[in-house]
Amino acid sequence: MSRPIQALIDPAALEHNLAIVRRHAPRSRVMAVIKADAYGHGLLRAAEALAEAEGFALLELDAAVRLREAGYRQTILLLEGFFDVDELRWIEQCHLSTVVHHPEQLAMLEAVRRRATLDVFLKLNSGMNRLGFTPQEFPAALERLKANSAVRQITLMTHFACADESDRNDSIAAQLQCFNLAAGGRNMPRSLANSAAILRFPEAHADWVRPGIMLYGSSPLAHTTAEQLGLQPAMTVSSRIISVQTLRPSDGAGYGYAFRADRSMRVGIVAGGYADGYPRHAPTGTPVLVKGRRTRVVGRISMDMLHVDLSEIEDAGVGSPVTLWGRGMPVDEVAQAAGTLGYELLCAIAPRMQRVT
Ligand SMILES: Cc1ncc(COP(=O)(O)O)c(C=O)c1O
Repeated sequence: MSRPIQALIDPAALEHNLAIVRRHAPRSRVMAVIKADAYGHGLLRAAEALAEAEGFALLELDAAVRLREAGYRQTILLLEGFFDVDELRWIEQCHLSTVVHHPEQLAMLEAVRRRATLDVFLKLNSGMNRLGFTPQEFPAALERLKANSAVRQITLMTHFACADESDRNDSIAAQLQCFNLAAGGRNMPRSLANSAAILRFPEAHADWVRPGIMLYGSSPLAHTTAEQLGLQPAMTVSSRIISVQTLRPSDGAGYGYAFRADRSMRVGIVAGGYADGYPRHAPTGTPVLVKGRRTRVVGRISMDMLHVDLSEIEDAGVGSPVTLWGRGMPVDEVAQAAGTLGYELLCAIAPRMQRVT
């Protein structure tokens, strides 16, 4: 038998979450964001479950080519665009769409003198100051694209910095106003909304929405749980107890004796550590399920193992099932305890973790 930790990927949950996106943005096309190996869920596995989406968005050219070769015919958008002129050949050959966000990309596009075949998403920096042309640069960049015979369709896009924060609605309004001003009355398709904006700002839905995290069943909103949003977890990381120790009062457990027992108690040792992608900074108290019952992690997370408190789960022993996150144990709760986000936990599952469907 192999080491018992695994990530179970649930295609039905992905499909369900896509339906939730559609319920919130019924008039928009959906560009499912499947970068970073579909947030850890596996590119082709996720694409298959999300095949009803009108588009896919990701960063990695090789992954985009793999999608095309696997037979997906919808829009496939490269969110950071291309990095050198040679990549344009692949983009053209595989009919990929590309973001254009800086003048060097415009210049590379102008160096390609061919008939019109490229679909471009022109990105505005509406305030996040990450990628995109400033509002001052944007009109000229748009004119250059329009004048380029290699460009077939242009979609205008931007990205929000604070869509997930309910006390920062003014910043969304400012970014939206900036985008609307830059886009003017132009009759061109538009794309703005990530998961948080899909849920909170219908006025930003436009032609294409770009959901990522909500498709995977994690909440993009700090004060609303995935369950409240009707989302289902698409990844469940489970393992088993591989050893049990009995601690006496003041005995330490794990590296640095970061946890010490204040009474006699049993702890279970779970096959799963930071080399599997479990967050090393998860402190004592981080929630975990053993035999479907809620308990807590205790002590420091090791590379390959972690300790759980079995005080209240008397019938647990070697072989008992453990859920680190997923069904019954929201990834967002584990992430919050560890001082991070569901995004990071999902993306960080290690290559050595077996993923099963
Ligand atoms: C440009 C862009 N659009 C959409 C998304 C999806 O965001 P989320 O996972 O918050 O829905 C991302 C993710 O970082 C992104 O960079």
